[in-house]
Amino acid sequence: MQQKIITRATSYFMAHYTKKYLHIEKQTHRGLPTCSENKKYLLYIHIPFCTMFCPYCSFNKFKYMIEEATVYFASLREELLHVKALGYDFDHLVIGGGTPLINEDELIKTIELCKKLFSIEDVSCESDPNHIQKPTIQKLVGLVDRISIGVQSFDDAILKKLGRYEKFGSSNQIYEKIDSMLGMLPLTSVDMIFNFPNQTPEGIVKELEILQSLSPEQTSIYPLMTSSTVSSNVKKTLGEYSVTQEYDFYKIITKTLQKMYPSQHGWSYSKENDVIIDEYIIDNKEYVGVGSGSFSFLNDTLYLNEFSLERYAELVAKKGSAVTKMRTFPRQSQMYYRLMVDLFNGKLSKRRFATEFGVPISQNLSKELWLLKLAGAIKDNGETITTTEFGSYLFMVMMKEFYMGMDYIRDGERKKLGVI
Ligand SMILES: C[S@@+](CC[C@H](N)C(=O)[O-])C[C@H]1O[C@@H](n2cnc3c(N)ncnc32)[C@H](O)[C@@H]1O
Ligand code: SF4
Repeated sequence: MQQKIITRATSYFMAHYTKKYLHIEKQTHRGLPTCSENKKYLLYIHIPFCTMFCPYCSFNKFKYMIEEATVYFASLREELLHVKALGYDFDHLVIGGGTPLINEDELIKTIELCKKLFSIEDVSCESDPNHIQKPTIQKLVGLVDRISIGVQSFDDAILKKLGRYEKFGSSNQIYEKIDSMLGMLPLTSVDMIFNFPNQTPEGIVKELEILQSLSPEQTSIYPLMTSSTVSSNVKKTLGEYSVTQEYDFYKIITKTLQKMYPSQHGWSYSKENDVIIDEYIIDNKEYVGVGSGSFSFLNDTLYLNEFSLERYAELVAKKGSAVTKMRTFPRQSQMYYRLMVDLFNGKLSKRRFATEFGVPISQNLSKELWLLKLAGAIKDNGETITTTEFGSYLFMVMMKEFYMGMDYIRDGERKKLGVI
């Protein structure tokens, strides 16, 4: 009971803080800053096309049309040349969507260009279950190191309600498809979502059994995130969203998956330590996003690219960059962010915090640490702060609210386009 109250209060305050800090209104015509530092960043490429729209998804996406997609990929490559001219270099490339493999030839051309322009060491790419046939994956061998496949659920009833059963096949068919391509690329990850309305603990246990039998190298299990537009679509298709059982589901998931995946990174699980997991927003302090509706985060500032496909192509053609808005974060919000991200991953180093901000954490966030200790969420071990079992759930709730804050930005931009 007490934990439920603490969780609700945490959600409430997190939503308040993300609204306070994570809004992005300032227009800018300047584009990204030039890169003066001799360091490598992460590069994110957004492919905003889908053949169907899922009720829970708030990413920037449009109905796939081959002509528009061909123009889009050409603009992407132009934007990449502009980023190169600004002096940036990258070691990690993450490609997300939408559906990155919707036009594999264009995607391959784009990855090849990235490898020519930058010192890319690994490439991670998302896919839906329709683009993982062996011949497609064969073409990616040597080009893509990690593929994360959106399964979302192994329950046919849920897949039907999401409209994914018709489009991507039954749980069995998806299982077979993944099973036959596992091992072709160095890493395969399966993306799942939990806490769909009407999901039951027995249902989750069954889905986890299927996942364990498939045994991909990695898996990410996200709690359902419901920004404003998503929540009405979810209600229409799946029923009323509730967090009542979220913690119980979380405990079942962590207990089951920790046996199979020794390495846990927030909501991502991996068979091996120190291998890529593409949660770039969480892991990488600074990144550049190219494509329509992508974000870049550089030097405490978030930059937002144009969401409309037409305007995106126009802006890139005119000046190489499609950045339209920016927001520089105040120092206090950066400290909150560091606290949240590190403890979402299970551990915060006091020394690292002090080096980054020039003050000890006990001085600047003493009230927050006191409250988290009182809530039974953290343990102070002297040099480090770690989470308790309840704390790891609580920081997942915070991260969910943060991601929903990003979704609100996307919703706002997409509303202006009249697409939602
Ligand atoms: C942008 S999607 C692209 C995946 C791919 N197009 C597909 O449908 O399989 C990347 C992943 O984000 C996760 N995701 C998207 N919307 C979400 C939401 N509202 N709540 C939780 N996870 C979500 C899903 O697991 C999804 O596979
Ligand atoms: S989940 Fe994937 S297929 Fe569904 S709308 Fe989002 S990006 Fe498109």
